[in-house]
Amino acid sequence: MGDQSAMFEAVREGMIPAHIYNDQDVFALEKERLFSRSWLFVAHESEIPNVGDYVVRHVLDDSFIVSRDNTGEVRVMFNMCLHRGMQVCRAEMGNASHFRCPYHGWSYRNDGRIVGLPFHQEAYGGEEGFAKKGQRLLPAPSVDSYNGMIFVSLDPAAPSLEEFLGDFTFYLDYYTKQSPDGVEVRGPQRWRVKANWKIGAENFAGDMYHTPQTHTSVVEIGLFREPKAEKRKDGNTYWAGNGGGTTYKLPEGTLEERLRYVGYPDEMIERMKQTWSHEQLAVVGDNGFMISAASIFPNLSFVHNWPKVEDGEDVLPFISLRQWQPISENETEVLSWFIVDKNAPEEFKAQSYKAYLMCFGSTGMFEQDDVENWVSLTNTAAGSMARRLHLNSRMGMKMDGSEVVPALGPDQFAGPGTAYVGYGEYNQRHLLSRWADYLEREPEQIDSVSIGGAIRGQLGTSCDTPGDLAPAIQ
Ligand code: FES
Ligand code: FE
Repeated sequence: MGDQSAMFEAVREGMIPAHIYNDQDVFALEKERLFSRSWLFVAHESEIPNVGDYVVRHVLDDSFIVSRDNTGEVRVMFNMCLHRGMQVCRAEMGNASHFRCPYHGWSYRNDGRIVGLPFHQEAYGGEEGFAKKGQRLLPAPSVDSYNGMIFVSLDPAAPSLEEFLGDFTFYLDYYTKQSPDGVEVRGPQRWRVKANWKIGAENFAGDMYHTPQTHTSVVEIGLFREPKAEKRKDGNTYWAGNGGGTTYKLPEGTLEERLRYVGYPDEMIERMKQTWSHEQLAVVGDNGFMISAASIFPNLSFVHNWPKVEDGEDVLPFISLRQWQPISENETEVLSWFIVDKNAPEEFKAQSYKAYLMCFGSTGMFEQDDVENWVSLTNTAAGSMARRLHLNSRMGMKMDGSEVVPALGPDQFAGPGTAYVGYGEYNQRHLLSRWADYLEREPEQIDSVSIGGAIRGQLGTSCDTPGDLAPAIQ
């Protein structure tokens, strides 16, 4: 991989070694040092509303069961049988009080505790030989949630999710809390693209620049009125905490008029006014910026847009959440959810879903345009010439490092973090600088867990405290 510290320094300067978008060694380092430490989204609580509901999700190669146990608490458990390692739950989603391993039949409650072990007496000497009590599927090392979004970290010493997200929660509320009851999600649609995972995350974080070029045809057919060059450059990009995004500049008007402009019905606008803080409302109402796409480091993105669903009709907004799940250095599984306010009128939910499917999702028109670029970039990054090239990701920054335009002051933008009007690759640089920070840090020693047995004379400890359960989200 060559001189790693030079690579990270270049990335921080906005000069990106082109091969990082298709390099096996870089991907190995990302697995070891980034995805094993960062907070990663696994599911939304609305996907498992009832006792016994579960979904199976991955953190790279690790499969997890995200379940609502019989007491209503959310558990995230490593989907590997404690006996010989079979994947315990094979379905992608469902409802179950117990999971039985298909290999030899060990069974677990939906909170992870072992309840059944065939021939326990004959094969293990009963409770005296192997005490089932307290044994459970391995919990995800750290679990927490924000606005119903469940995140895990494989690092037991990870900073809290709140600390990790930081001020980005301010912007997260626009997507995931438009009324006191929050949102519901539909999906995910899943598909694979032959592109490196970082490209989507960077694109959604701050690439307003590609919209007028890449998505020209969508404007030409009249589906979308916004991505004209002059419109996009009037928006801003912001970065706060561990995430950042882009906005559109709205026409002059009151808060209500501006929310109506993107297609929200009055009853939803009323609930937004009751739910969002004074500053959150000021970003839209006073400053005139409407959130569009965004990314949370490392691989979670959002999009909020307002296309015309029917010819001659007005625009209608939709929100999508998507995860860029790395499969390899040149393949990504995209998981794409539709998000809508729980309290939205049924008609709005139906139309908004239609708007989402037209634009994003596996057959979405924007999606198709975007992926073509990302696949091409990934392919080109694999060759030997790419190892000689540093890509220029310095938009918004002059040769001497000074800014092309000054950051917005508090009277121009009421949100936290730093924001700039116009085109700039500020957020892509933020994202990749964090990437460099994680990859530079040496891995820590992780303790292993053993169950009901002895390793070099010591009894396994972590799981054999009776009644000790995975930490739960209430
Ligand atoms: Fe699961 Fe044997 S591997 S019961
Ligand atoms: Fe795009």
